[in-house]
Amino acid sequence: MNPDPLAEFRRLVSHRARQYSKQWEASKKLIEGTILPSTLAQLHRTVLATDLPASVKEHLFRLCERETANRVQDLDGECLKSLTGFPPAKALRALSVFFELVPAPGSQWPTTRLTSENIEQVVRNMDNPFDLFRCADVASLLDIGAGDLSFAEEVVDLYGPDLMQQNRELILHCLDRLDPHSRLGGPLHASADRQRRLQETPGLSFSFFGNQDMFELEQLDAQGLLAPRYTVATCWAPATPTFAYEPTRVSRSLIDQELIRTKGVFRRTRFEREHALEVAHGDRLLLFPPWKFEIIGPLALLELLARRGALCVLGSVDDQVFWELLAQLLEDSRYRPQEEPFNRVTVPKIFGNLYDALVGLSVGESIDLSSLATLRCQSLPSADGHTAEFRYIRIHRGATFPGSPASSTARKFSFMSEEVPPWMVTLIPA
Ligand SMILES: C[S@@+](CC[C@H](N)C(=O)[O-])C[C@H]1O[C@@H](n2cnc3c(N)ncnc32)[C@H](O)[C@@H]1O
Repeated sequence: MNPDPLAEFRRLVSHRARQYSKQWEASKKLIEGTILPSTLAQLHRTVLATDLPASVKEHLFRLCERETANRVQDLDGECLKSLTGFPPAKALRALSVFFELVPAPGSQWPTTRLTSENIEQVVRNMDNPFDLFRCADVASLLDIGAGDLSFAEEVVDLYGPDLMQQNRELILHCLDRLDPHSRLGGPLHASADRQRRLQETPGLSFSFFGNQDMFELEQLDAQGLLAPRYTVATCWAPATPTFAYEPTRVSRSLIDQELIRTKGVFRRTRFEREHALEVAHGDRLLLFPPWKFEIIGPLALLELLARRGALCVLGSVDDQVFWELLAQLLEDSRYRPQEEPFNRVTVPKIFGNLYDALVGLSVGESIDLSSLATLRCQSLPSADGHTAEFRYIRIHRGATFPGSPASSTARKFSFMSEEVPPWMVTLIPA
């Protein structure tokens, strides 16, 4: 046993690089310019969650400080040399192999063989759509905009023990755009403790990707870190205002007017060493991540969910996002008036009987949307040209449901006296 932890680490890294020749070959692509920042971010996350001698960790953290580098030459060469004994490019490849950032050859995330008809039959008879994990051939979940990972933890607590008893793996991949290093975002950050607990849960294949925009998954896909399709894709408390305005229905200038009217005057600023968005709300100045007021709209979210999930669940959808989203799911174009903001006055008029029927649902009740109005049958075209189409849509009223997992935002709804109960939308892509 080598008494110097750094020397011992070097020995193990170079041994692993020689031993796993296929991963070594595949590691080449991880150091290419466009992929490099996400390789470094992934390395950083892995190091955070790995038990290593302090001196080794210190070197690895120093290396990851240059997370925005897009050339291997911009990394700390001395640091790479101490960690691996290799020159920079080889060194980073060796670390990628050591920390298993390269997917094992031939290994692929399993995907369900259930058809959308099978899933509809099962889910129609379930109060809780996540119970699909109990009977599907593959138990895999993608949680986008996962926030503090409380939903992930509830899923694991609820389904993990039974799946484990049946010797079945639970695959749980979560991502969020918040940068884990950012001082903005407050309670939405994924706590390191919760990540560690999930990482260490037996029978669970868990990954969390922070600083990860849900609409930029190409690099994670190139690294084989995401499944092409999950049994369930979910998004809890979809971000407002990001998904509260549909850009194919309302113009950016109208959206800006509405944002100023409802949230306050906003401007780009800096907070310590970060970019930020400052919003003058009443007599308070609020700070958010700089992308907080980027408007994407519900169509792009629906398209992403439909592409990634055999079953899609939007949980704890607030009233504003809900009506904008609903308008995109219905055939009749009168639900999508151009340049007309949705609010407490316009929504009852635009949605008419449909509004009365949905608002008439008690908390805990649900309804098959096709029993109220015709679903949009042609594919829904989003701004980026992708499309989505759903064969079954169920609307549930409420934030949390007995026996169902829920996120921390959903659990906070019962304490928010000014908010009307949110919605849950279960969708099965055609
Ligand atoms: C209202 S919070 C909900 C968090 C969590 N799902 C919950 O229910 O407690 C919305 C989350 O979406 C994340 N988010 C917003 N835009 C995103 C994007 N483009 N890609 C990934 N995450 C995003 C935010 O960082 C935030 O954590």
